[in-house]
Amino acid sequence: TSIAPLRPHAERKAPDGPVVCVVMDGVGIGKPDAVDGDAVALARTPTLDWLRGLPSGTSLRAHGTAVGMPSDKDMGNSEVGHNALGAGRVFDQGAALVERAVNSGSLYAGEVWRWLLDGVRESGEALHFMGLLSDGNIHSHIDHLLAMLRQAASEGVKQARVHVLTDGRDVPGRSTLEYIDRLEATLAELNAEAGVDYRIASGGGRMLITMDRYEAEWAMVERGWKTHVRGEARKFASARQAVETLYAEDENVDDQYLPAFVVADEGGVGDPVGPIRDGASVVFFNFRGDRALEITRAFEEGEGFAGFERGPVPKVRYAGMMQYDGDLALPTRFLVDPPAIASSMGELLAAAGKRQLAIAETHKYGHVTYFWNGNRSEPFAPELERYVEIPSQLVGLDERPWMRAAEVTDRLITEVDAAARAGAPLDFVRINYANGDMIGHTGALGPTIMAVEAVDLCLGRLVAATRRVGGVLVVTADHGNADQMFDGAGDARRVRTSHTLNPVPLAIFDPRESTGGPVLTGPGSAEAGLANVASTCLELLGFAAPEGYAPSLLRR
Ligand code: 3PG
Ligand code: CO
Repeated sequence: TSIAPLRPHAERKAPDGPVVCVVMDGVGIGKPDAVDGDAVALARTPTLDWLRGLPSGTSLRAHGTAVGMPSDKDMGNSEVGHNALGAGRVFDQGAALVERAVNSGSLYAGEVWRWLLDGVRESGEALHFMGLLSDGNIHSHIDHLLAMLRQAASEGVKQARVHVLTDGRDVPGRSTLEYIDRLEATLAELNAEAGVDYRIASGGGRMLITMDRYEAEWAMVERGWKTHVRGEARKFASARQAVETLYAEDENVDDQYLPAFVVADEGGVGDPVGPIRDGASVVFFNFRGDRALEITRAFEEGEGFAGFERGPVPKVRYAGMMQYDGDLALPTRFLVDPPAIASSMGELLAAAGKRQLAIAETHKYGHVTYFWNGNRSEPFAPELERYVEIPSQLVGLDERPWMRAAEVTDRLITEVDAAARAGAPLDFVRINYANGDMIGHTGALGPTIMAVEAVDLCLGRLVAATRRVGGVLVVTADHGNADQMFDGAGDARRVRTSHTLNPVPLAIFDPRESTGGPVLTGPGSAEAGLANVASTCLELLGFAAPEGYAPSLLRR
């Protein structure tokens, strides 16, 4: 679907200042009957309350099919949320595309699967699978892994090794043994029935090894590399034994932060069972790219690689579940084509000569650049686009729930003023506040309340700045998280670290109007989703909503 260039709107005019779209990451609208675990409701949020009381205050769908996930049982997440916000349309996302390719078998008909299997048939080495082991369906799904293992066995692959990143972030905090048991059961079945040698080889918590993103902490990837590739980590007889031991040693540790381990022969004292050697084939089975790019680069880049000291790099055939970055062609080989997201609002605005700023702290930097632009890391028109990253602090997030919100806000305001002074005023700004999501993922209620309050404090500053420069403020979120900090009730109540299925707020403050801003489309707007935000912002900027985009929510 090609989208025509932007045209001026018949009546609407751009404001004097920029249209600023605020993404409060992970700040959804909780259920009225679960307020005691709703950090958004519990937080003191005078500005958000005021914004939501404006004529434009409404809610948007941010999960399931409204953002291109396979079903409405799927939570929203930052990738699909920012894709929908930026692209103004709903695309079938990685989770849906991979599920289809696995179920139809088209994944195995492609030449990359052949190439991987031919490689290990010729070398006699193992086929390695590496990725996030859960059914969170945000980065990966265990069903895809199990299906590929079965297929490999049916095609005569004799040896396979699985390197598991334990989750606890998109699924309950201590749930990894469920997934490990499911995986072990499949491996045992294949070993018995197909006479193959398939084993779990290594693992560790996803927030400690391998799955860093946006180059926040390469040392994580280095630990992962040592663990998976070199087999250098604490040894155990099995993954289950590792997890049980690590749980017992630290009653506070959850699966996100489990220390790295390798499975070793002779009851855990012998050689590691699955280092990655020359001749091996490796599948990184995550479909989402942000946390897959760095380990992919470690496997694919040559001498110039600067992430960390790799030591000898095994000569392997490497493939990702998807291509994680089209601009950078990473990885070169992949099993399923990513969604083809073109003509996102950033691209259309750049083509129309409009100036844009994208700003966030490191943890969410790629969300407002790479995800917003349809999983492309490069600007469309560098002379018109400024991408600003405020470095995140690498500290316990529950100890500093304010994160860099104040600095991100300071910088946004400075950038807007500086651009205006330089005679090149900004037209559109997008900003992400990481707090609600990043602290929400810790599962700690008190700090998450503070996180939401920190965001609210910044919103207050943005409202004042919007008034001062005559801009328009559009406030929303990409998905819920802080709005539900527990699952279950009574004795069955347990901490929830993952995202939610809740809708998110939308509110627009336009100081040109005495009522504080526009009125949105009437009944039916409750059904609107994140994809409607792009047309809405474009109309506020004085453009007609593009044909092919989800409609604007501004009432005519
Ligand atoms: C993560 O990668 O941190 C979580 O799996 C999802 O969080 P996000 O979608 O908010 O980034
Ligand atoms: Co999140």
